[in-house]
Amino acid sequence: MRKNIVAGNWKMNNDLPQTESLLQDLKKHVIPENVSVMVAPAFTNLFQAFEYLRETPIEVIAQNMHQSKKGAFTGEVSAQMLKSVGVNTVIIGHSERRAYFNETNAILAEKVSAALDSDMQVIFCFGEELNDRKQGEHLEVVNAQLEQGLFHIEESQMKNVILAYEPVWAIGTGETASPDQAQEIHKYVREHVKRAYNTAIAENISILYGGSVKPANAQEIFAKPDVDGGLIGGAALKAEDFMAIVNAF
Ligand code: 13P
Repeated sequence: MRKNIVAGNWKMNNDLPQTESLLQDLKKHVIPENVSVMVAPAFTNLFQAFEYLRETPIEVIAQNMHQSKKGAFTGEVSAQMLKSVGVNTVIIGHSERRAYFNETNAILAEKVSAALDSDMQVIFCFGEELNDRKQGEHLEVVNAQLEQGLFHIEESQMKNVILAYEPVWAIGTGETASPDQAQEIHKYVREHVKRAYNTAIAENISILYGGSVKPANAQEIFAKPDVDGGLIGGAALKAEDFMAIVNAF
């Protein structure tokens, strides 16, 4: 059985005091047993988040990492560094990394391998831009992102991969993919995973939807059979909204 997952991507928001305040608010809530909850604070706040959430089922995850083990890469953070502060899961391939930091499918493929080889779990993000969808090319774009960024990994490593479909046009825009649009892509991707690997892997992999998920729309999106949860941006910055989404299954 695949897991229901709700992960909050805090992006470049919240300094340390603001992070502590959000963590305190999160700690007040009871986490339902049918969902794995994760939060991704900025690198500077990971250690604090880990300390705060130690006694809770909420997992602290990272937003990014470098593909090299160590060395002269000013400003970067390695898998080992993340693991040493208690982080075992990392988001890779977010559209903001692709767009603003020139992370190509080839670089992302290296990052995925580096994380999995370090025994980390990966949330692999993919999704088309508005233009791709307008031209009816969204399936091809998603295909290429998966084939070039992810499908090089071995079958045995796929159990440590979570997928996150985030259409770029729906991120931070208030515009959400309709539940049917999300389901179409999620089903398509699961079938693609089945062709590339096998039925068991396809059935067990969690595929999250991301892009303007909020308390008001989470339930109908999560109700779709191939949507196994969400990767949440803006709404993850308020504990109440985030927990309303967590409770939307
Ligand atoms: P929003 O929920 O703010 O649209 O962001 C989604 C996202 O990018 C999560 O990674």
